[in-house]
Amino acid sequence: MTLMRLVFALLVLWFVPLFAQDYSVPSQWNTSSPLSLDQRIHLFQGALEAVNTSYDETQGLINMSLDENANLVSAIAIFDRIVSGRDNYDAISEHISRVRPKLIPLSMWGLTEIYSYRAYSDNLFLLDAKTIWEQYTPWMITIQDAENGSHPLKNVTFPSQCNGASVAGGVFVYHEDEKIGSLAVIASTQGAYMACVQAIRYALS
Ligand SMILES: *[C@@H]1O[C@H](CO)[C@@H](O)[C@H](O)[C@H]1NC(C)=O
Ligand SMILES: *[C@@H]1O[C@H](CO)[C@@H](O)[C@H](O)[C@H]1NC(C)=O
Ligand SMILES: *[C@@H]1O[C@H](CO)[C@@H](O)[C@H](O)[C@H]1NC(C)=O
Ligand SMILES: *[C@@H]1O[C@H](CO)[C@@H](O)[C@H](O)[C@H]1NC(C)=O
Ligand SMILES: *[C@@H]1O[C@H](CO)[C@@H](O)[C@H](O)[C@H]1NC(C)=O
Repeated sequence: MTLMRLVFALLVLWFVPLFAQDYSVPSQWNTSSPLSLDQRIHLFQGALEAVNTSYDETQGLINMSLDENANLVSAIAIFDRIVSGRDNYDAISEHISRVRPKLIPLSMWGLTEIYSYRAYSDNLFLLDAKTIWEQYTPWMITIQDAENGSHPLKNVTFPSQCNGASVAGGVFVYHEDEKIGSLAVIASTQGAYMACVQAIRYALS
């Protein structure tokens, strides 16, 4: 079953976004910045120092949610990649190894591991990302699930389409069994999962 879903994950995510979703940047968004790279690096370092003051050594976490911690670690890894540095490699390795046991499969962390892998070329990050992705895949809506309006981990049915597009490729929020009736699909789950799949495919190809 899991293997079948992995194959579906690849198929769905390969093709569905091509015709069901529009991921282009809206033309009215202003994507230019008046700041130079140096100025942005300076800003980032200041922000990092500020947020780091709430680092809790015993937890190995900043006092925020696990998802927010994942975002922070991602930003640090992306930063090191941009400046071609490894200054935060040890801290990130340590952080991830301490956080890992606490993780129910959170797709955001899969993405964090991808960013870390890209920054530091450490295969452990990539393997972790793949594990998280595999754990998360059963929560994805396959093409057949969408057509049938049902999902093996859910005890409620749902519409096959949303805004005229198939709901296939949607990824439910990971829930313990008692929340089996919840159909929540949220951006942090969905976006991170899709980005993770694409990045893993790219890294392994
Ligand atoms: C976009 O932002 C830049 C930098 O802030 C500014 O110089 C420019 O005028 C903006 N362009 C538009 C179309 O608003
Ligand atoms: C963040 O805080 C920890 C623990 O106090 C310290 O070891 C680390 O160097 C700090 N990192 C940054 C980027 O300030
Ligand atoms: C973490 O933040 C919450 C509020 O955001 C606060 O109530 C709590 O005391 C903080 N915990 C620590 C260890 O700082
Ligand atoms: C199709 O959905 C129904 C509930 O509407 C469910 O009982 C059935 O098991 C589903 N079939 C498949 C193949 O998923
Ligand atoms: C689905 O499962 C949950 C948790 O076991 C339960 O509270 C809820 O009543 C179930 N819903 C249906 C429609 O069976």
